[in-house]
Amino acid sequence: MRLERFVREKGEISKFPLSRQTQRHEVQFLFLKMFFFTIRNSYHRHTQRGELKVATHGFSASNKIGEGAFGSVYKGLLTNGSIVAVKMLSIELESMRGEREFVSEITTLTNLEHENLVTLVGCCVEGAKRFLVYNYMENNSLAQVLLGGEQNRIKLRWGARGRILLGVARGLAYLHEEVKPHIVHRDIKASNILLDQNLIPKVSDFGLSRILRDNASHISTHVAGTLGYLAPEYAISGRLTRKTDVYSFGVLLLEIISGQTVVNFDLEHGEHYLVQKAWDLYRANRLLQLVDPVLGMNYPEEDAVRYIKVGLLCVQETARFRPEMSTALKMLTNEIDIGVVQISQPGLVADLMNIKLGHKTTFRSHYTKASNMESTPSSLSSCS
Ligand SMILES: Nc1ncnc2c1ncn2[C@@H]1O[C@H](COP(=O)(O)OP(=O)(O)OP(=O)(O)O)[C@@H](O)[C@H]1O
Ligand SMILES: [Mg+2]
Repeated sequence: MRLERFVREKGEISKFPLSRQTQRHEVQFLFLKMFFFTIRNSYHRHTQRGELKVATHGFSASNKIGEGAFGSVYKGLLTNGSIVAVKMLSIELESMRGEREFVSEITTLTNLEHENLVTLVGCCVEGAKRFLVYNYMENNSLAQVLLGGEQNRIKLRWGARGRILLGVARGLAYLHEEVKPHIVHRDIKASNILLDQNLIPKVSDFGLSRILRDNASHISTHVAGTLGYLAPEYAISGRLTRKTDVYSFGVLLLEIISGQTVVNFDLEHGEHYLVQKAWDLYRANRLLQLVDPVLGMNYPEEDAVRYIKVGLLCVQETARFRPEMSTALKMLTNEIDIGVVQISQPGLVADLMNIKLGHKTTFRSHYTKASNMESTPSSLSSCS
């Protein structure tokens, strides 16, 4: 067995083999199930869960800042003075990769650096317990800031919305096109876009599927909250490609421009879908009606129309018609003119509550093309 130590010096990461004796110690270390912590910007450093415990006041309720499908998130202060978000993973051990693979995947992820990705500082393993440590983002998530309750909302002006959109597109283009092998995020949504103190967007939770064993899927456990962002082909067959992320990005874009969540409910109209609404307005040539009314007239109409069209291009039903992320970015910045580009109909996954991913026999839902929403939706015979 060959273990390597990663060292970051003057911004350069270098890797060198450990001496035999150190290797033996490292292996013993792993087998003894001691605490294991890798940390960025310093030596490959081991620390005890004790440090995280102290940092988070014993994972106290007052330090808890959120909870997701992977576990609870706590705010913490490390002894070196940095403020972090500690994700205490609550996935069953059988679904997670073994300890060495887990640490190796996390090490790879900690080496990704981009202005629009949340920095994964390191991880800690203690027997069955695993923790991920991220840089803390002061302004929480887009889900809270843009779409949350009144007390958390920030009135985002047009300029801030544009910067957020472009930042997310850049972060995703980096994961899709610059990282080798590329990373499909697979869970792009407003709660996974965190905002730092300057409202710079940081994509979080990228690469998390890598810590799961190949046969494990975390999606089925939290699909209900995420469903509106799922590309139809992924919801139906589990087929995951970069274009799946592009679809989710399109939905997120429409949310940012409209200030509305992907699925809305009111007593008069029941459940209605943002993607459907955008498509209807596009066909009626009334796209500006989608823009968040809190912006009043304070936005450039031409940019708004272009952005919404890019959103619609990203959510097209046929995955191969969707642009790649770098192309979507150029469309947003008007480096690629989309004035005459044809937009085909979006795909929608409806009947949210009945969908069970990966369980085709219980898939009682239907998949509807947006243009057919008024007519009786056809059931998916292959999935019923
Ligand atoms: N690095 C961070 N800095 C600040 N807050 C964070 C950080 N990471 C997560 N949070 C907060 O914790 C909440 C829960 O995050 P988590 O990633 O566990 O779940 P989620 O993204 O909301 O949902 P799901 O896991 O179902 O996809 C987030 O919505 C956010 O408010
Ligand atoms: Mg998240």
